[in-house]
Parts: sequence; C-alpha cells; structure tokens
Amino acid sequence: MTKILAIESSCDETSAAIIDDGRVLSNLIANQTIHAEYGGVVPELASRAHQENIVPVTQAALTRAGLTLQDIDGIAVTTGPGLMGALLVGVSFAKSLAYSLSIPLIEVHHMQAHILAHFAEPPFPSFPFICLTVSGGHTQLVLVRDYLDMEIIGQTLDDAVGEAFDKGGKILGLGYPAGPQIDKLAALGSPSIPFAEPRIPGHDFSFSGFKTSVLYHIQRQVAQDPDYIKNNLANLCASIQDTLIRILIKKLNAAALEYNVTEIAIAGGVAANSGLRSAIQDLGYKNQWNTYIPRMEYCTDNAAMIGVAGYYKYLKGEFSSLSITPQPRLVF
Ligand code: KG4
Ligand code: ZN
Repeated sequence: MTKILAIESSCDETSAAIIDDGRVLSNLIANQTIHAEYGGVVPELASRAHQENIVPVTQAALTRAGLTLQDIDGIAVTTGPGLMGALLVGVSFAKSLAYSLSIPLIEVHHMQAHILAHFAEPPFPSFPFICLTVSGGHTQLVLVRDYLDMEIIGQTLDDAVGEAFDKGGKILGLGYPAGPQIDKLAALGSPSIPFAEPRIPGHDFSFSGFKTSVLYHIQRQVAQDPDYIKNNLANLCASIQDTLIRILIKKLNAAALEYNVTEIAIAGGVAANSGLRSAIQDLGYKNQWNTYIPRMEYCTDNAAMIGVAGYYKYLKGEFSSLSITPQPRLVF
C-alpha cells in the first residue's frame, strides 16, 4: 500500500491530504477568510496564512487518517501554477519533509490535479475523456488520454470564467469571491437580460467582452434608476450565470463532437456552480454521453487531488529533485 502525503498552497487555501493507493484517507482544508475584505486574494497575506496553517493542517490530515509521518511513502506538492509566495510555503515544507524522512518528493501541476480529482472516488471516467477545467485563473478544454497524458485543446484568450463570475459580481456590489453568491441568487431569478457572447473560432474562449457588456448595461440602467441593481439582483445574477454557462457548454459540446469523445467531465472551482452542473448533465443526457462531476469538496482547491496526481506519478517513478522551485506560470 502506497501512502502519499499531499500539500496544496497555490492560492488562498492551505490543504493537506493522505492518499492510500489512490483512495482518500483524509483531506483537510484551511480557508483564508482574510481576503474577503480586500475584494480579492492579497498574495502577501496568503503566504503568511499558509505559514501559520501548514503544520496544523498537515498534523490534522495525519491524525484523521490514523497515521504518523513514518507511515508515509512519498510527499506530493503543488509547484504551479499559482502565487509565488504561496507556492513557496508548500514547496519548502514538502521538500524539508521529504529530505528528513528520506522519501520521494513528487511535484504536481495544479491544473492536472484538478482533472485527476475525478479519480478521488468512483465513478471514474474512461480514457479518453474531455475535461472542461474552470477556475479563478483558468478556463481550459483538455483531452485526457491517460492519467498523465493530457493535451490542452482550447483555452481562454483573456479572463478565466471564474474571474468573469467574480468581476460580474463585483459590478453588482457583491463581495469576493462572487461566484458562489451569484450561484445562490441566480436560483431566485430568471435569465432575462441578454449579455454579450463572444464569437471566437475553434475551441478557445474569451470573457472580456462579456464583462464589458455587464458593465455598460449596469451603467446605462443605473443612470435611469439608482435602485436598478437592488431591484433586479436575482435576474442579473441569473443572466450572468446563464450567459457564462451557455458559452462554456457550446464549446464543450463542439470539442466532444470534433474529437469523437463520449465521456465529458468538469473540474475546478467553477464546477461547483449548480447551473453548470445541471447543464453538463443535460448535455450528456441529450447526446447519450457519460458525464462526470466531482463532489464539491474536490472541485475547489484541495490537497486530495494533489495526492491522487502524486500517486499516479509515484507509480511511474516520476520523482523530483530537492532543488525544485515553484513555477507560478507552469504550463503542461
Ligand atoms: O479552483 P478554484 O478554487 O481556485 C483557483 O482559481 O485555482 O476556483 C475559484 C473560482 C472563483 O473564481 C470562484 O468565484 C469560483 O471558483 N466559484 C464559483 C462557485 N464556487 C466557486 N463560481 C460560480 N459558482 C460557484 N458555485
Ligand atoms: Zn484551483
């Protein structure tokens, strides 16, 4: 039995998990609430909070799994993409542990791990599948041929869809991150406002025009009625959510048809969106494709997905030297 201790600290979540032969024994996440009052993640505050949280979170993950450090066979850690200072905390911690325990260090790509979250618990997708990876920093269509064989077939040319949710929400006066709040409020309204959809050829995405269209709409309406946002908040949220989901689903549909793939999946923080979760299910039902949606806990940033990716790298003997450094703009 191979036991991996996994560490995630790429953004504002400090997380540690224990994975035993690919199965999750524990997955602990310390959220950083400090950023909400600044309207976004403050890198320096994120690094400091990681420093405070990393030891207790790791200890809690071991305790929850009923293990000690001596039971661990390898340490998996996110090396990028992410915030430099935040990544440094996790990478330095993982390197010291691997060195002191004389066990392998395994570097993990954060976006690959979001996709491999699908293997944290059944049902598992069969290869090849297409994964729509949607987070605060990324929007990608990835053709997944095997655990560690992935190809980006489309991606955003500007903002990520999570940013589009958050910036759209900011225009409405919602706090950060606005995505989950838009999701809740959208359920109370109807998508009656037509926001701009991009016309980008191929499998790429763009969300900057959408954001401008929300801003101009609000400026026009508020000039006539200062209470416009307050009186139409649910419909505005429903319209933002509906437009963004339509953009995503159209591209996912086209990619699955072109690559002749009948297994489709979503991953990343925005995969927690209830509208997107039902839209992908509808798409699968309509086309008789199998759809895969991770449990909420495995959609937003977590170390279990890092441990699952680490486990498959461990099986292939893909170990890293102790001289590795974080790579904030890592691509795969
Ligand atoms: O993957 P993630 O936790 O962090 C990274 O960016 O790597 O994704 C965070 C993003 C934020 O933009 C947040 O607003 C969005 O995911 N998000 C949601 C929902 N939950 C999280 N967006 C829409 N609806 C949600 N329920
Ligand atoms: Zn993420």
